[in-house]
Amino acid sequence: MNDVFLKACRGESVPYTPVWLMRQAGRFMKEYREVRDTVDFLTLCKTPELAAKVTFQPVDLLGVDAAILFSDILIPVEAMGMRLEFSEKKGPVLHDPIRSRAHVDRLSVPVPEDDLSFVMETIKILRAGLKVPLIGFSGAPFTLATYMIEGGSSKNFLATKKMMYQSNGLYGSLMDKITDTVSAYLKAQIKAGAQVVQIFDTWAGVLSPADFKAYALPYVKRIIKELKGLDVPVIYFVNGCAGLLKEIKSAGADVLGVDWRIDMADAARSLGKKAVLQGNLDPCALLMPKEDIRRKAQDIIEKGLKAKGHVFNLGHGVLPEIPAENVKYLVDAVHEISAEARR
Ligand code: CP3
Repeated sequence: MNDVFLKACRGESVPYTPVWLMRQAGRFMKEYREVRDTVDFLTLCKTPELAAKVTFQPVDLLGVDAAILFSDILIPVEAMGMRLEFSEKKGPVLHDPIRSRAHVDRLSVPVPEDDLSFVMETIKILRAGLKVPLIGFSGAPFTLATYMIEGGSSKNFLATKKMMYQSNGLYGSLMDKITDTVSAYLKAQIKAGAQVVQIFDTWAGVLSPADFKAYALPYVKRIIKELKGLDVPVIYFVNGCAGLLKEIKSAGADVLGVDWRIDMADAARSLGKKAVLQGNLDPCALLMPKEDIRRKAQDIIEKGLKAKGHVFNLGHGVLPEIPAENVKYLVDAVHEISAEARR
């Protein structure tokens, strides 16, 4: 069992900087596209043998130090009672978006072992076959709320902020239901075998620090508190974290995910000596010539050595346009450079 990633998450000393990549299973890989040619995305998420198959692919082909469960953050939202569709053009669509008290009242808090049993089954298949740790995940309440209220992806998050600012209790009731769902879902994943969990807050960067503190952070804190005692490291990733570091620091997570819009050295300085960081190469840097990828990775690795711990990752997910060869090159380069830097 390769436990370098688990050790880094706990801030223990490691022989090299472990690396995994958000969206490491995906369309940039020929082997993933071959599976996707035979099934639609939601069927892939809900068929444990296939979801496990594409989870294994980057571990076997890229040599990353962790696997991440293949699923989507919107899967539990469907289980809460919304109709979910993935359209090739528009991305995710949630029908009849949440705008009223009646909508919120109609949502249920799913029982993960029953309503999301395919996820737990996928985790069990993975644990039986993996030689690296398995990461489970969920969307953070604010990010899930944006999809539920907007009905899909958004640019200005107008409907979300309108509900947030209305102060009639509706936003709070919705967030309470989402928070209970996420807590139960992550606990079930851990019980099924997830060894680390990551909470994705993809859209929290659109909030001012004061709004983040009032409307997003308390719910994340509640979830992390519920997971304490289960002895599984929690990673909290906020995309667009640079202006929110002071608040993010107080979330209680073991590892903080950092996007590429902030220098790793500045993130390490702001988050303090106790923080383990994950990140933070610009996903588009993987389009550069190999020597440039190497130089950028080296810079991040050296700055990461100043933190209590560092897990190398991109600042966001691998894009479908990235050559798989460059991704493999990056993983090997991180292992080489970081082993050398620690000698
Ligand atoms: O990281 C992994 O390899 C695990 C799998 C994973 C997927 N989605 C697979 C996926 C994870 C962890 C996610 C999380 C997710 N899903 C997030 C948070 C992380 C982030 O990217 O910010 C969000 C916001 C979503 C919602 C979502 N799912 C969108 C907006 C889209 C459409 C955009 C796109 O990239 O196509 C998806 C679809 C999706 N999720 C795909 C994959 C591999 C592409 C679907 C396909 O194969 O056609």
